[in-house]
Amino acid sequence: MNILITGGTGYIGSHTVVELIKVGHNVIIVDNLCNSDIKVLDKIEIITNIRPIFYSFDIKYSTLLDDLFTKHKIDAVIHFAALKSVGESVTMPLEYYENNISGSIILFEIMKKHNVKKIVFSSSATVYGDPATIPITEDFPLQTTNPYGFSKLVIEQLLRDIYNSDKSWSIALLRYFNPVGAHQSCLIGENPNGIPNNLMPYIAQVASGKRDFLTVFGSDYNTHDGTGVRDYIHVVDLAIGHIQALKYFETHGCELITVNLGTGVGYSVLDVVNAYQKASGQTINYRLAPRRHGDIAICYANPTLANKLLGFKTQFGIEQMCLDSWNFQKNL
Ligand code: NAD
Ligand code: UFG
Repeated sequence: MNILITGGTGYIGSHTVVELIKVGHNVIIVDNLCNSDIKVLDKIEIITNIRPIFYSFDIKYSTLLDDLFTKHKIDAVIHFAALKSVGESVTMPLEYYENNISGSIILFEIMKKHNVKKIVFSSSATVYGDPATIPITEDFPLQTTNPYGFSKLVIEQLLRDIYNSDKSWSIALLRYFNPVGAHQSCLIGENPNGIPNNLMPYIAQVASGKRDFLTVFGSDYNTHDGTGVRDYIHVVDLAIGHIQALKYFETHGCELITVNLGTGVGYSVLDVVNAYQKASGQTINYRLAPRRHGDIAICYANPTLANKLLGFKTQFGIEQMCLDSWNFQKNL
């Protein structure tokens, strides 16, 4: 299939591009490089021996997107392009709504115009807000506390409405839990600009000596060691989930599916620190600090539906996630 990947030079996008190429798909990437590096294309080429077709523009430029769909016969779209920092979205709500929601609307309009009706969308566990119980199943109430999360909720609803208006669409809403780790080649991974917001990239920088210590946000949660618990999922496992979603549509035709992509296992911040120390052989200095505003205590998936519908089963545990993150960090 010819698959258009929006945000394909980003962290999850680049790993998905590699997996798509591996199983024989033709990949076309559009990315405005606002949060990724053009050099990722070289890395993808080294890993796969194939250089994906690349367009560098913002998906909000509808004329350019229209031209792209005219030039290439696109069979399906995987839509990663978005701004993704929760904290930043609180200070820059308009930019988040504009980029994430307006960008998606333009993409869906152009898809409709060109009769491309197959899409896999990057949603997030953030749409569950602070869940009343765990593990989280897909039928839990949706709620959110920040513009980033709200943009995901709106786009999910847009896609549900599109499907309700025209049942010849195939739509997968994939709700990711916490993607971490890197490709085993050490060539692609997560390398945020500035101070990392997320736990594992921060720990990686402490391990490499770039930062002195990790600040552990909250040690008084009702968890086994008082620190926040999350469902960390290896980015390669997550990438494979997208291939499985596309395969699902080949056998099931037109449907809208909503699935959690997580492992079903929760690890605390201190569990991750310990696993990273073991994997890297480095000491991770940390300091306990008050809770981070907006954080919840525990979040992990019930991955049963993903397994049932897609055959999704994660291969990599926390040790491999830390090891691959560390190998990537050392290779930077
Ligand atoms: P990322 O920032 O590494 O990748 C996103 C890519 O999209 C970047 O390369 C960026 O340059 C590009 N982009 C952004 N806006 C664009 C636009 N308007 N036009 C063209 N390109 C644009 O992020 P990621 O971690 O790979 O996340 C991918 C998707 O998964 C996002 O939609 C994100 O919201 C979602 N998600 C991520 C996480 C996570 O923890 N990483 C968790 C849940 C959901
Ligand atoms: N944490 C620290 N110190 C840090 C960074 C994080 O203690 O420097 C803690 C947090 O308090 C939390 C855990 O590590 O308990 C995980 O935090 P992350 O920032 O790595 O991840 P979040 O669960 O807060 O959010 C991430 C993405 C969201 C996405 C969500 C669910 O950033 O966009 O996972 O998929 F919505």
